[in-house]
Amino acid sequence: MSHVFPRHTKSDLPIAAGGEGCYLIDAQGKRYLDCGDAAVSCLGHSNPAVIRAVQDQVEQIAFAHSGFMTSEPAEALADLLIQHAPGDLDRVYFVSGGSEATEAAIKLARQYFLETGQPERRHVIARKQSYHGNTLGALSAGGNAWRRAQFAPMLIEMTHISACYEYAEKPESEGSFDYGQRVANELEAEILRLGPDTVMAFMAEPVVGATLGAVPAVEGYFKRIREICNQYGVLLILDEVMCGMGRTGHLFACDHDDVAPDILCIAKGLGAGYQPIGAMLCTGAIYDAIRDGSGFFQHGHTYIGHPVATAAALAVVRELTERDLPARAGVMGDKVHSALEAAFGQHPNVGDLRGRGLFRGIELVSDRGTKAPFDPSLGIAGKVKKAAMAEGLICYPMAGTRDGRNGDHILLAPPFIIGDAQIDELVSKLERALSAVI
Ligand SMILES: Cc1ncc(COP(=O)(O)O)c(C=O)c1O
Repeated sequence: MSHVFPRHTKSDLPIAAGGEGCYLIDAQGKRYLDCGDAAVSCLGHSNPAVIRAVQDQVEQIAFAHSGFMTSEPAEALADLLIQHAPGDLDRVYFVSGGSEATEAAIKLARQYFLETGQPERRHVIARKQSYHGNTLGALSAGGNAWRRAQFAPMLIEMTHISACYEYAEKPESEGSFDYGQRVANELEAEILRLGPDTVMAFMAEPVVGATLGAVPAVEGYFKRIREICNQYGVLLILDEVMCGMGRTGHLFACDHDDVAPDILCIAKGLGAGYQPIGAMLCTGAIYDAIRDGSGFFQHGHTYIGHPVATAAALAVVRELTERDLPARAGVMGDKVHSALEAAFGQHPNVGDLRGRGLFRGIELVSDRGTKAPFDPSLGIAGKVKKAAMAEGLICYPMAGTRDGRNGDHILLAPPFIIGDAQIDELVSKLERALSAVI
């Protein structure tokens, strides 16, 4: 009888007993190819440099509260991140995960406008079908109806414009670029509706992960978003918790779109699973407003800047940058895409294969021609997850792709060390899992 409160009370989970490269091994010795539980493991499960960094740090100093002391790994990690960060990002606020990063971003945006004498700026605009985390502020920003529903009466009022979801929402008669401009312009319309002096931030994922299944914006979309934010003095918060840290082929996903945010959130791949860590990066201008104003950001958690977590992440980011692993994610991602095309390109129930780098999505449909989703009562995504586990494959199927209820997709986020043989293994396990379900 377990006393653990699990995610699902009716699930019967294997015990994770070991990890080796791209594989997780359970207590019975069964091996699972880890292609992205939730896009955490970018270096695999047995990276010697990261393991050593954690061990060394625990021996030196495990914890010192960031209200009293800083630490060498926190300082070095912030330097390294800023060395590679886009635009004017200049300061790093460490947290322990993705929701803490987005929560901190929302609060920092608010405090920035207080410090700069614009207290009426309070509205956050985000997008439908996005996910920014599960704490109440982050959940308020998220646009996924299913995740929000039961907490709706407690959520902060935020508004949501359309996602940039070309496959399902672009009319056939409209060009890709025009579609992107049109949905980006919804931001301007929403700012004008709310009152330009009352909007503080727009928040979006450069490549939408959990809720849409690796959907990048079309070309020109984020450039237009950046223009609108500049025009109305609205901060752009990019949430790269899932798509960042090299997964899409760039260390920072927004580099692909050639835009830089005012605030950027990362987590998952930052610690690569070796430690729970996230971070919020902000521009020098935002930091200076706090420094020259009240002098402190009215926020904080006990474990921010944890020495062992930052030591692990420092080793991770060194691995990513020194071995040029984001570029490898780009190359191997193209191979995964080609393999998926070959296996599922003509599959009657695969509507779309998409993504960037090693962040790939497969949208499942009941009819390729009409793009009609499966009846949600069939529970396709849940069944695919189970069938894949039985095959020894961990992937991330999710339901509600279209509107929080209808639609199913499979998200794939393999470690950047994946090899050609493992791509074949991924595709053949997925083929068997899909044919067991559909
Ligand atoms: C884009 C995005 N933001 C935020 C979060 C929340 O991160 P965490 O689960 O670490 O709190 C996630 C988690 O999946 C995410 O994908």
